[in-house]
Amino acid sequence: MLPAELIRFKQIGRSITILTAWDSLSSSMVEAAGADVVLVGDSLAMVALGHQTTLPVTLEQMLHHTQAVCRGFTRPLKEQPLVVCDLPFLSYQCGEDKAVAAAGKLLKDSSASAVKLEGAEPEVLSVIERLVRMGIPVMGHLGLTPQAVHNLGYQRQAKDPSSQEKLVNEARQLQIAGCFAVVLEHVPEGIGGRLRKELKIPIIGIGAGNDCDGQVRVTADLIGLTTKQPPFSKALIQGRQLCVKALQSWVEEQHLLAKNPTTKTSLQEPDC
Ligand code: KIV
Repeated sequence: MLPAELIRFKQIGRSITILTAWDSLSSSMVEAAGADVVLVGDSLAMVALGHQTTLPVTLEQMLHHTQAVCRGFTRPLKEQPLVVCDLPFLSYQCGEDKAVAAAGKLLKDSSASAVKLEGAEPEVLSVIERLVRMGIPVMGHLGLTPQAVHNLGYQRQAKDPSSQEKLVNEARQLQIAGCFAVVLEHVPEGIGGRLRKELKIPIIGIGAGNDCDGQVRVTADLIGLTTKQPPFSKALIQGRQLCVKALQSWVEEQHLLAKNPTTKTSLQEPDC
């Protein structure tokens, strides 16, 4: 699927689903679940690498994880979800040439088809225009932009009318610069609906209410694997608790079996 296909989905009123993945196990589950797009988000810094923010993850690490994500798919290439990879902090803030080299490397050395980057400052808009001209499709990201954590924190954004007007204007600028979609994170509900009506490109919400063209979620949050659940993302199952409980049973059973090897237990492994 080409990134521009998402614009067609919007035109025909088909909703868009995006889930993150960080390795081959998570991408195989997301593919099996039927998501349209797999986002290798820089949230993997926190989900998979144990960092406190998304800032430390490097381009090399993003590429390494994107390659693993692409290897996890089981369907033929044409039927696989579209892969979008986040450009990490400092890979596009230091000038257009560096940004083209970084985004180009991700697309050259993996089967990702597009990149995502945050913000709509004039420098970022120039980078987006250049990437799009060079054949690299770009997804934008507004509202809570985690790479700006030291300016914005992790709070809900655009709470007052003037910052809402600013955000709407930024989304317009991203469309003009050539983005094929925009992620809108942790903002009051009405903004998604307003942008959805006004813009031709899809608005993909996370903590932005239901009135969007599609939704994106961090898969580890959705299946309850993370210890810090964002307030706007509900866990569908308590994945961490379920796994810990199962592993605990196994550990306890090993202690039991070591003392008495003939004990029959519920976790008995087959004789082979
Ligand atoms: O990095 C990420 O996972 C993201 C999503 C929160 C949209 O950018």
